[in-house]
Amino acid sequence: MKFSHDFLFGAASASYQVEGAWNEDGKGMTNWDEFSKIPGKTFEGTNGDVAVDHYHRYKEDIALMAEMGLESYRFSISWARIFPDGDGEINPKGIEFYNNLINECLKYGIVPFITLYHWDLPLTLEKDGGWLSQRTIRAFVRYAETCFTAFGDRVKHFITFNETIVFCSLGYMAGAHPPGITNDPKKYFQAIHNVFYAHAQAVLIYKEMSQYGEIGISHVFSPAFGVDDSEESHKAAYHANAYATHLYFDPILKGEYPAYVMDALKDNEIHPEQTEEELAIIKQASTMNDFMGLNYYQPSRVELIKGDVEKRENKRENCTGAPGNPSFDGVFRTVKMNDKRYTKWDWEISPEGFVDGLNMLKERYGQVKIYITENGLGDEDPIIEDEICDVPRIHYIQEHLQALKQAIQDGVNVKGYFAWSVIDLLSWLNGYKKQYGFIYVDHKNNYQRKKKLSFHWYRSVIENRGEDL
Ligand code: BG6
Repeated sequence: MKFSHDFLFGAASASYQVEGAWNEDGKGMTNWDEFSKIPGKTFEGTNGDVAVDHYHRYKEDIALMAEMGLESYRFSISWARIFPDGDGEINPKGIEFYNNLINECLKYGIVPFITLYHWDLPLTLEKDGGWLSQRTIRAFVRYAETCFTAFGDRVKHFITFNETIVFCSLGYMAGAHPPGITNDPKKYFQAIHNVFYAHAQAVLIYKEMSQYGEIGISHVFSPAFGVDDSEESHKAAYHANAYATHLYFDPILKGEYPAYVMDALKDNEIHPEQTEEELAIIKQASTMNDFMGLNYYQPSRVELIKGDVEKRENKRENCTGAPGNPSFDGVFRTVKMNDKRYTKWDWEISPEGFVDGLNMLKERYGQVKIYITENGLGDEDPIIEDEICDVPRIHYIQEHLQALKQAIQDGVNVKGYFAWSVIDLLSWLNGYKKQYGFIYVDHKNNYQRKKKLSFHWYRSVIENRGEDL
């Protein structure tokens, strides 16, 4: 089987992780510009001041993407370049930069796939309540509309938000992302609702503008499976899927929150404030949402916690995505299993979980259009005789593309695959040590770019549309 010609082969990045130029050309400060400089918050104090200097080297980077045969480049816009203080004056230099980036992609026939929010929030808005504040919601909608107006003639794919579960849970429960709040479920669930209300309004505006493109959102996709076939494990998996998948996917695709979760939040007095009007807008937008972006790295294996509720400890090690944590409500814990394969960062490698999970989604939501907006292997790549030999990455992507073929044959409507990441970039909490890219960046040698083995391999995959996988 070959991937069809309307299936996009791409790769992705995010503004804070690649651009650098944190205080250039009128860009405002973001929450991450501040947070990353608080001692102890990031791995070895790394920050995005320079990142991999994509802001200055985007032409060189896009030329490399073209050489790789990339059909689409997913990147995010830094909100604070467009609105330095979140909702005031527009910064023309910010618009100019993204116009240049988009035009450079189009010069090579690379489809620009834009994420509006990949976690770097203008600092003024963070200080005024961040995602708990109505001001941020209003500001996001204005920012989104500004981007549609400025770029929508050439950009036909917009993702509103990247991974709501991650920036809300790490921001309001684990304290590992800005605003660094710990163990506040009321705020956590409120932030999620506010993000979905902002998403819904952006969808409605986009449709009103009749730009004849597509709009959607990207969610983490980490389907939960019980550690065995017992009734208890099934319960744990149901609970985990309700809180990590249904709570996030239902409002977008069905226009309503899952009762199983909402009832429990009410009982525990941690239910978000929601007006009838907000819920109606979320409902209306769900009928117009064009696609769902999935960021799949690993499934989760879960078991029920018996006895006393364990408290989630607030440690950075608990936020790495590796199994071994109790859920916030102490109902289940994630488990590392002896018969599974793991990366160096203890993320499970499971193409089978990918196929099963995609089929689970099909059962619940039907044939919604899906783009895999992230998937890839974080590794420390070996350098042998000056070659970056990232063979494990090739295997990882190969297995996951094979899994996608299977899912498509099962009737799942997948229309594109974006590897994370196009180039080695700054990991929010792991610095530059954890690499994901097809292109290596030599930080000791003026950020020189170098093609890895996977670069050549991905090029051949795209060339023959995955026939030889
Ligand atoms: C996703 C994010 O959660 O995972 C990316 O959208 C991130 O921005 C990627 O870099 C990998 O995470 P990590 O922690 O391995 O760098």
